[in-house]
Amino acid sequence: MSAPSSAIQSTLVENRVFPPSEETMQGARISGMPAYEALCAEAAQDFEGYWARLARENLIWDKPFTRTLDESNAPFYRWFDDGELNASANCLDRHIGTPTENKTAIIFEADDGSVTKVTYKELLERVSQFANGLKAHGIVKGDRVLIYMPMTIEGVIAMQACARIGATHSVVFGGFSAKAVHERILDVGAVAVITANYQMRGGKELPLKAIIDDALSGGDCVNVRNVFVFERSKSPCAMVAGRDKTFTEMMAGQSSECAPEIVGAEHPLFILYTSGSTGKPKGVQHSTAGYLMWAKQTMEWSFDIRDTDVFWCTADIGWITGHTYVAYGPLAAGATQIIFEGIPTYPNAGRFWQMIERHKCSVFYTAPTAIRSLIKAAEADAAVHPDRSDLTSLRILGSVGEPINPEAWMWYYKNIGGERCPVVDTFWQTENGGHVITPLPGATPLVPGSCTLPLPGIIAQVVDETGAEMPNGDGGILVIKRPWPSMIRTIWGDPERFKKSYFPEELGGTVYLAGDGAVRSADRGYFRITGRIDDVLNVSGHRMGTMEIESALVAKTDLVAEAAVVGRPDDVTGEAICAFVVLKRSRPTGEEAKQIAKELRDWVAKEIGPIAKPKEIRFGDNLPKTRSGKIMRRLLRSIAKGEKITQDISTLENPAILDQLSESN
Ligand code: WTA
Repeated sequence: MSAPSSAIQSTLVENRVFPPSEETMQGARISGMPAYEALCAEAAQDFEGYWARLARENLIWDKPFTRTLDESNAPFYRWFDDGELNASANCLDRHIGTPTENKTAIIFEADDGSVTKVTYKELLERVSQFANGLKAHGIVKGDRVLIYMPMTIEGVIAMQACARIGATHSVVFGGFSAKAVHERILDVGAVAVITANYQMRGGKELPLKAIIDDALSGGDCVNVRNVFVFERSKSPCAMVAGRDKTFTEMMAGQSSECAPEIVGAEHPLFILYTSGSTGKPKGVQHSTAGYLMWAKQTMEWSFDIRDTDVFWCTADIGWITGHTYVAYGPLAAGATQIIFEGIPTYPNAGRFWQMIERHKCSVFYTAPTAIRSLIKAAEADAAVHPDRSDLTSLRILGSVGEPINPEAWMWYYKNIGGERCPVVDTFWQTENGGHVITPLPGATPLVPGSCTLPLPGIIAQVVDETGAEMPNGDGGILVIKRPWPSMIRTIWGDPERFKKSYFPEELGGTVYLAGDGAVRSADRGYFRITGRIDDVLNVSGHRMGTMEIESALVAKTDLVAEAAVVGRPDDVTGEAICAFVVLKRSRPTGEEAKQIAKELRDWVAKEIGPIAKPKEIRFGDNLPKTRSGKIMRRLLRSIAKGEKITQDISTLENPAILDQLSESN
C-alpha cells in the first residue's frame, strides 16, 4: 500500500447541487433520502438480516439458505453458502409464465445498423440449446470456459449457457492479444474456448478466431479440447479438424430445453482478469448468489429500472461492467436492453444519440471517456451534435469506470439529459461485482464529479494508512469495512495474493482496500474518488497495470534494457500511458527515435493488446534512480506531465538525467 498521491489533497469545492425532481422521485424504488436512510439503518441494526432479506427477495432459490454470512475464515467470506440456485434460471426461467416472457430482452444493433430482437422466451431457448451443445462436448459443472466474443447476442448466450450448466466462464475482451489470451487460458485452466470467426467494428472485419489459433499454437494449452466458433461473418476462417466447430455444428440436433444445473451459492460463476500492481493480471473470482443478487438489486436501485424502460449499458462484455450490467443484471431484472456491436464514432460520432432516438432508450449508462470524446466531436461538427437527435425518451443517465470531471458531467446533464435526467456517477470495481458508491436517482441530491454515498449495507470509509477514519474534507484511502455479498471471493489460484492485495495486515486483515484515494465533502460527507493509489492506470476507463506494460517492454530483449511506465492526465482518455525507455544501444533521437517508438508500441500491442500501447515513449541514457537503485517514479510522473521538478532530488543518483528525459524526443 503506498501513500495517497498528491492528487488527493486537491480540495475542489463543487457548489452545484441537483436534487431529484418530483417526476424522478415518483414511483422510484428508493424515493427520497429518508427511504435511503431507512435502508442504511436497517443494515446497521441487523447487518445479516438485511442482506438475507435482499437475497430472499431478489433470487429464486432451489434450496433456501439458512446461513447468511460465514466469517470464520475471513477474509474468505462466504455468503448464503448452504443455499442452492442457478444463475441462468434466475435471469431467464424466472420470467417464463409471467408477462415478461414475451417481452424483448435484447435489441441488438449491429455495426452496420441492422437490428435484431429477441424475447425472453427466445433467449431462454437459445441459451438452452447452446448449453446442451456444451454438455454434448463433455463440458461439465466446474469446468472453465474462456470466452473471446464480440458484442453480440451470442456473446451473452455463451455466458448464460456456461452459467446454466455450472461451468465457470472467463471472458477476455476482444482487444487483448493472442499472448494475453494464452496466459489467461493457462492460468484459468480452460477446457474450451468460445469465439467468433470475426468481429465487426467501425465498418471493418477484424479476425478473432485467428487470434485464438495463435494463442493455442504453442502446444501447451493441453486442456483445451474444443473451440466453438460463431459465424459472425461469411468470410472463411481456418478450422482445426476435431477441435474446432462452428456454432451451427455444435448445436446441431440439440434440444432447446435444458434443465439448469443447480449449484451452491458460492459456486464460481465467473473469473474475470484485471490488472493489478504486479505484472501478472489477477483472476477475480465471483460467486453465483451474492454476485447475482447485487446485479439485480443495483439495477433496481441505482437505475430505478422499470418494466417500460429501455436500458443501454455501452460497456463490452469483456469488462466487469458488461458482465453485471449487460449479461446478468438487466436479464435478472427483466429489463429490455440494447446491445451495440460497434463503436461510438461509426459511421459518425452521433451514433449513440441516434441509437437512443431509434430505440427510445430511457436509461443510458456509459463511461466519461466516451462522453469527453463525443463532446469534442459535437463541438467540431454540428451534424453529430446530440441536439440533432430526439433524446426525450431518456430518464436516467449513468457514468462508470473513471472519475467524471464536473465539466463533462454538466455537458452530459444538459445536452444529453436535457436537465431532466439525473446522472448517477457509479463507483465500483471488478472486485466489487456491482455498484458500491452511487447516487440513487429518486433520492440523492447530485453534485457533479461526486459518486455521493455508499449503497445501503456498504460500509465505505476514508481512512489513513493505519486505518483511522479521516475527517470530512481530508483525503485518504478508500476502504470497505464490512464484507458484502457481491465482493471478490479470491484471486483464482492465488489466495495469498488475494489477502495481500485487498486485506492488508496494516488495516487489520479484514477490511477491504479498494486501491483508490477518496475524500468526503465537508458539508454532505459525499465521496469523491481521487484516483488509484497503486500502480494501476485508468486509460479510457480500462485498467492497466504499469508493471504489466513495463514487463511487456523489457520482454523486447534485443532492444530494451530498462523501462518505467507512468500515467499522465489526458483530456479525453483520463490518463495516458507514458513510457521511459533505456535501450541496449545508444539513445536514439529525431526520426530514429520515432521509428523505434513505433516499433515498441506495436510490440506492446502484440504482448498485451492495442489498449496498452503507450501514447508517449521517451528515451534516456538511464532512468532517475536513488543510490540504492530504485526508480523514482514520482519524478517521472512530473516529467510526463511537463511539470518543473520541484520535489526533493537529494537522493537522486544521477540528476542530469532529468533534463535529458524532459527534452521531448
Ligand atoms: C475507477 C470498473 C471514479 C477506480 C467498474 C476503480 C471510478 C477502477 C469510478 C475500477 C467512478 C470506476 N468514479 N473512479 N464512478 N468507477 N472507477 O475494475 O479507479 O475496470 O478502482 O471496474 O476504476 O476499474 P474496473
